[in-house]
Amino acid sequence: MGRYEELYQRSINDPEGFWGEAAEAITWYKKWDRVLDDSNKPFYRWFSGGELNTCYNALDRHVEGGRAEQTALIYDSPVTKTVKRYTYRELLDQTARFAGVLKGLGVKKGDRVVIYMPMIPQAAMAMLACARLGAVHSVVFGGFAPHELAIRIDDAKPDVIISASGAIEGSKLIEYMPMLNKAIELAKHKPTKCVIFQRPQVKAELVPGRDHDWEEMLSKAEPAACVPVLATDPLYILYTSGTTGVPKGVVRDNGGHAVALRWSFEHIYDTKPGEVYWSASDVGWVVGHSYIIYGPLLSGCTTVLYEGKPIGTPDAGAFWRVISEHGVKVLFTAPTAFRAIKKEDPKGEFVSKYDLSGFRYLFLAGERLDPDTYHWAHDLLKKPVIDHWWQTETGWPITANCMGIEKFPIKPGSSTKPVPGFNVKILDPGGKELGPKQEGLVAVKLPLPPGTLPTLWQADDRFRQSYLSTFPGYYFTSDGGNIDEDGYVYIMGRVDDVINVAGHRLSTGEMEEIVSTHKDVAECAVIGVGDGLKGQVPVGFVVLKAGAQRAEDEIKQELVKLIRSEIGPIACFKEAAVVARLPKTRSGKILRGTMRKIADSEEYKAPSTIDDPAILDEIKVALRRIGYAQK
Ligand code: COA
Ligand code: AMP
Repeated sequence: MGRYEELYQRSINDPEGFWGEAAEAITWYKKWDRVLDDSNKPFYRWFSGGELNTCYNALDRHVEGGRAEQTALIYDSPVTKTVKRYTYRELLDQTARFAGVLKGLGVKKGDRVVIYMPMIPQAAMAMLACARLGAVHSVVFGGFAPHELAIRIDDAKPDVIISASGAIEGSKLIEYMPMLNKAIELAKHKPTKCVIFQRPQVKAELVPGRDHDWEEMLSKAEPAACVPVLATDPLYILYTSGTTGVPKGVVRDNGGHAVALRWSFEHIYDTKPGEVYWSASDVGWVVGHSYIIYGPLLSGCTTVLYEGKPIGTPDAGAFWRVISEHGVKVLFTAPTAFRAIKKEDPKGEFVSKYDLSGFRYLFLAGERLDPDTYHWAHDLLKKPVIDHWWQTETGWPITANCMGIEKFPIKPGSSTKPVPGFNVKILDPGGKELGPKQEGLVAVKLPLPPGTLPTLWQADDRFRQSYLSTFPGYYFTSDGGNIDEDGYVYIMGRVDDVINVAGHRLSTGEMEEIVSTHKDVAECAVIGVGDGLKGQVPVGFVVLKAGAQRAEDEIKQELVKLIRSEIGPIACFKEAAVVARLPKTRSGKILRGTMRKIADSEEYKAPSTIDDPAILDEIKVALRRIGYAQK
């Protein structure tokens, strides 16, 4: 039996022994009563009764243990022409003092704090400071519009919001204060205190009585000590798109999260304490939480926080520059970033300008790694290119080629094998397990390993209904796929209304809800259509109300504006067609899957339940009209 097989079998057959041992890598104030608490199935809890502090494990422990002068975080910002290094001692000092600021504002264990910040070191400090106090942070991605921020404020009900004066997005300067003010105006729950980090590039107008200046507060603050929390207490809430306009508040606990991320660093990413790891993502996404902030710091590594893009800041050599300048050993990003580089520099000529000799692995996730991009990246870098599959909900990879355990040959199109702890199965719609290479629904047998979501924020029923009720005894991932004879997993895509646009998870259901608020729209469908750069992009089809005589282009412009103002620019909603009717089944269900296949020029068969097959031809005509030519 190989090492992978041995570890994997043990993780499934003896999860308590397996994770109990892994938990020794974390410093606890009090050891757990039970490694796996299954007294309230199907809700499982890890390390119940244990006490720890995540910030202590990410910072203090390393300072006390001899890493005080090691670089903890490198802020690399081509958009502001800044490179700044923080040692573990410096990061701890600033974090502890910022925790003092929050404490002074009344933040205590269990309180929620919303963080709406660009990619600056203060975002990391804000997250870690919340963890230090046992407060629950909820980071909202900066590309979301005020409406989305307001929804999250209303659900998390924070007393304090931490933000900054603005972001530099490529060549654009984005002011945050008007968005923050608008969000607070839209929200029913009114946070009373905001802490704003003023960036030199953009000055924020502070609201007297509500807003506090970060630097001013920090200069007066006393460092706050770590507050012990239960392993099962929440560390953060991260909202993610579901099938409707109400995002799901994924909860992450303290204990299981620390154990799982620490374990993953060595076993999946093959990264040891002291090495440099770079996740080119954003703190607003789960990848940013797990592998810009917590994973590398819990592991005593050096993390890179990059405020830039793969291209245009200043060129398609940006990633290679960062890797060589900072001695990055592992890069983790989304395939879309590589497609962007490939488009700009197809021959990969920029690579030769930099010394990448210390670079060992490229990990990709967030969307399916298409074989073309895999081959391009592999041929260019001549290093292992590892596809791994995960979700906001799981917080760390479900399937991967675990470089720190056993290196398996790569099969392009597959994210290799289940990571220890994840008992992955392919089921048919009735819950029957399918055999090798049979396409089905991907589920994970309960219990999920540590670090995965224990529930949704104050929504146990929704958690059960969304993930556990489709297949009793399993967590349903909402992805479709298959497993081959060698145990390699192939993830083929979502089977619900969630799409992935440039590695960003979005809900077409939510877009439909917004499009249907347009005064002239009678009904609509939004589908995700394949895109060479972004993986998928949303395309809308609208049926106008009787009597609404409107030009298609005019309606499209209005809908684009509407989605931009309600969800944000990252929705990338740029195309819509006006049609006379939508294809439906006789019972009235819109045939979105068939429409998607038509748009992607895939083989399709009109379902026998279709109301009027002629409508599919009208959809083809509409797609051609807006630039999607089908075969
Ligand atoms: N704040 C404000 N606006 C933002 C934003 C942020 N943090 N991030 C993106 N946007 C805006 C962009 O400026 C763009 O606006 P525009 O329509 O006015 O041009 C829009 O949202 C769409 O952004 P994006 O999808 O990122 O497209 P892009 O063309 O700017 O860049 C890539 C394309 C591939 C270079 C870019 O998506 C990328 O770097 N992706 C990396 C993937 C990644 O980080 N994934 C996270 C999960 S691992
Ligand atoms: P998110 O919650 O934003 O991480 O998005 C999770 C979804 O992205 C998954 O359910 C998949 O549909 C998709 N996804 C993420 N990583 C991969 C991957 N490596 N291969 C295929 N799909 C992926």
